[in-house]
Amino acid sequence: MRKKIVAGNWKMNNDLAQTEALITALRNEAKTSDAEVMIAPTFTNLWRAFQTLKNTDIEVVAQNMHFAENGAYTGEISAAMLTSIGITTVILGHSERRAYFNETDDSLAKKVDAALNNDIRIIFCFGEELNDRKSGNEESVVENQIKNALFHLDAEAFKNIVLAYEPVWAIGTGETASPEQAQDMHAFIRKTLADKYGNNIADSVSILYGGSVKPANAKEIFSKPDVDGGLIGGAALKADDFFAIVNAF
Ligand code: G3P
Repeated sequence: MRKKIVAGNWKMNNDLAQTEALITALRNEAKTSDAEVMIAPTFTNLWRAFQTLKNTDIEVVAQNMHFAENGAYTGEISAAMLTSIGITTVILGHSERRAYFNETDDSLAKKVDAALNNDIRIIFCFGEELNDRKSGNEESVVENQIKNALFHLDAEAFKNIVLAYEPVWAIGTGETASPEQAQDMHAFIRKTLADKYGNNIADSVSILYGGSVKPANAKEIFSKPDVDGGLIGGAALKADDFFAIVNAF
């Protein structure tokens, strides 16, 4: 049975005091679904968040990492530095990192290997731009992003990989993909996995949707057979909205 997951990507939001306040509010929310819950604060708040939440059912995850073990990479964070503070899940390939920080399929393939070599679970993000969808190329764009960064892996590796389809045109725009659009792309992604690795692997991988998920639309999106949860941005910054989404299954 695939895991249901709702992960909050806080992006570059919340200083230490705001992080502590939001975590306090999250801990006061009741979880009524069987979804796994994750939050991704910024690097400066990871340790505090991990320490505060380690005995709860909210996992703290990182928003990124570098592929090198250590060295002359000013400003970067390694896999081992994350595991040294208890972090065992990382978001990789977010469209904002692809757009603003020159993240490529090649650099992502190296980060995927480094994370897996350090027993870190990956939430791997991908998704098409608006012009790709308008020109009908969304499936080939998504297929290439997945193949170029993940299809060097063996089947066993996918027990530590969660996929997150985030159409770039839906991120932060309020322009959510329709539940049917999400289901169509998730089904295509699952078939792409099945063609390479077989149905057992494809059926075991959780595929999350991200892009303007809100309390009002989460239930319908999550009701689709190939949608296993969500990667949440703006709505993750309010405890009640975030848990309305967590409980939307
Ligand atoms: O990683 C999740 C994020 O990209 C979605 O953002 O604000 O559209 O929920 P938002």
